[in-house]
Amino acid sequence: MTAEELLGQAEMAGAKALARFSGYKVGAALLTTDGKVYTGCNIENATYGLTVCAERVALWKALSEGERKFARIAVASASDPPAAPCGACRQLLWEFCGDVEVILGNASGVKESHPLAELFPRPFDQGSL
Ligand code: THU
Repeated sequence: MTAEELLGQAEMAGAKALARFSGYKVGAALLTTDGKVYTGCNIENATYGLTVCAERVALWKALSEGERKFARIAVASASDPPAAPCGACRQLLWEFCGDVEVILGNASGVKESHPLAELFPRPFDQGSL
């Protein structure tokens, strides 16, 4: 699965976002090492604070289906430059996926690729305990 294909899946997932409060739709597509894709969109609610990011929806879907090994995640938004995962999602991606490739994109065709370790240097994780 190419980065472009994974980003395409993230874009399609973003179209399903429940983002009535911010109006800001995000889609994510998480690729396992054996080639399966789990997608997610952001889901907002009236208390605002219980909002879940697209990346976390994709991650929880994959983990709850028993997936444990991941290769890359694509995140699609309307931002330019493309939005990167929030701090909370970076923490969880680091803990559950390790140093995966993070592909960021928007509908204008702008695309970036970063190792998660570059976006989330000096983490606190199990090794810190
Ligand atoms: N959001 C994501 O889904 N992923 C990110 O990486 C950043 C922010 C969502 C949360 C909220 O629904 C909206 O974008 C605005 O913050």
